[in-house]
Amino acid sequence: MPGLSTMSDEREVWQMFRSRDEYAEPFRIKVVEMLRETTREERETLIKEAGYNAFSLPSDAVYIDLLSDSGTSAMSDRQWAGLMLGDEAYAGSRNYFNLKGSVKDIMGFDFVAPAHQGRGAEHVLMSALVKEGDRVLGNMHFDTTEGHILLRGAEPVNCLAEQGYKVGEETLFKGDFDLRRLEDEIQKDPRKVPFVLITVTCNNNGGQPVSMKNIREVSKIARKYGIPVFFDAARFAENCWFIKHLEPGYSGKTIPEIAREMFSYGDGCTMSAKKDALVNIGGLLAFRDEAMYRKALEWQIPFEGFATYGGLAGRDMEAMARGLREVIDEAYLEERIGQVRYLGDLLLRAGIPIVRPTGGHGVYIDAAAMLPHLPRKEFPAQALVVELYIEGGIRGVELGGCAFGRVDPETGEDIWPALELVRLAVPRRVYTDRHMAQVAKALSRVKGRASSVRGLRITYQAPVLRHFTAKFERV
Ligand code: F0G
Repeated sequence: MPGLSTMSDEREVWQMFRSRDEYAEPFRIKVVEMLRETTREERETLIKEAGYNAFSLPSDAVYIDLLSDSGTSAMSDRQWAGLMLGDEAYAGSRNYFNLKGSVKDIMGFDFVAPAHQGRGAEHVLMSALVKEGDRVLGNMHFDTTEGHILLRGAEPVNCLAEQGYKVGEETLFKGDFDLRRLEDEIQKDPRKVPFVLITVTCNNNGGQPVSMKNIREVSKIARKYGIPVFFDAARFAENCWFIKHLEPGYSGKTIPEIAREMFSYGDGCTMSAKKDALVNIGGLLAFRDEAMYRKALEWQIPFEGFATYGGLAGRDMEAMARGLREVIDEAYLEERIGQVRYLGDLLLRAGIPIVRPTGGHGVYIDAAAMLPHLPRKEFPAQALVVELYIEGGIRGVELGGCAFGRVDPETGEDIWPALELVRLAVPRRVYTDRHMAQVAKALSRVKGRASSVRGLRITYQAPVLRHFTAKFERV
């Protein structure tokens, strides 16, 4: 695939991908898990009993589960075989050294601390490096990252470039930083910035990639002020795949070469291994610098566990070590990103408004545009999640007014986030294209009756992270 000399003609760039019918899954299936189909009447009852919140559904009652791509991957035969090689020693497990080897080979970092999942790694990193009054700059922090920054009494600052917020515009690398903004924020007081965090890919605006050029510049700016750079590497391999196929100069490089270059611009990373390490649970922290690693261990050991297991069984670390090597396989990534894009294309063809371009791990539907008759206070994205479940037994997740909205404590007025989205996150190696076709069909049917979809009102909400446990009734 030739590289484009400029990034100006995005349409041309997208056409460079092989179309879905030019290749097949690069794996065959050894074990199957039967799905349960429910009737529409059953689903009407189930979702009502769940307080119209898909988080409260038993997963047995879900036909195609697109709630999250996190921890939902299918492991390979080699990963499963690795479980039998678990060394459950309290200290010095051989699986820890295998994990360290994978991280060193792929990311180039020497010092590795396992964690029970991504937020465990975030907790350790923030505790070690962030002080009260600090400001952690990033392209767009994930919710748990933001939470950990706030818990330290520090301020999370998003420096995403303007294009990243424009839902319908087909620009490339919508996960990029606004470099000027980044430098302005640093200049306010460089001593208050413990590090810059680059989230690859950027989950909160649609799984959008960050370009190598931008990463290089971010690193250059941060280094000018002596500020370390970390990656939130949850979906690092997907980001590398986009760089290879969309960024000039990278088409001839391998994914491992791209990953090594990308991580060379940082001082370490946190990672939720539940995404691009293809495991069901796990996470890690990695550092280039030993002193920083030692500092992190002071928090790692009391909170996550001893340095060589960090909340994981030896067997889990083995599955992670193997998953990290599998995820950088080009054929795997083409299939993976291709399937998500395929779902996005089906929805576009059905006239469903989605965040464009389709990102790496899911398709994000603009619920406000799809259900324009519903005001924000009737939670259009939540209403769409409910209807999609009733229509096809398909579970997505609301990323809109319920998840990110809040009530002003002084005026009692609702404060709404900019976007009102439903995310359909695609688990890795789990569903086929025909499942994706069923999702698209169900959504088209919802679209056909969109004007009669009813809104929701909240009947119960927790003071924080209300979307997980909120209860609703139909308006
Ligand atoms: N960073 C990013 C970019 C994430 O997407 C997530 C989790 C985390 C950190 C936290 O990792 O769940 O292992 O503790 N994202 C999941 C999702 C929950 O559905 O997008 P974790």
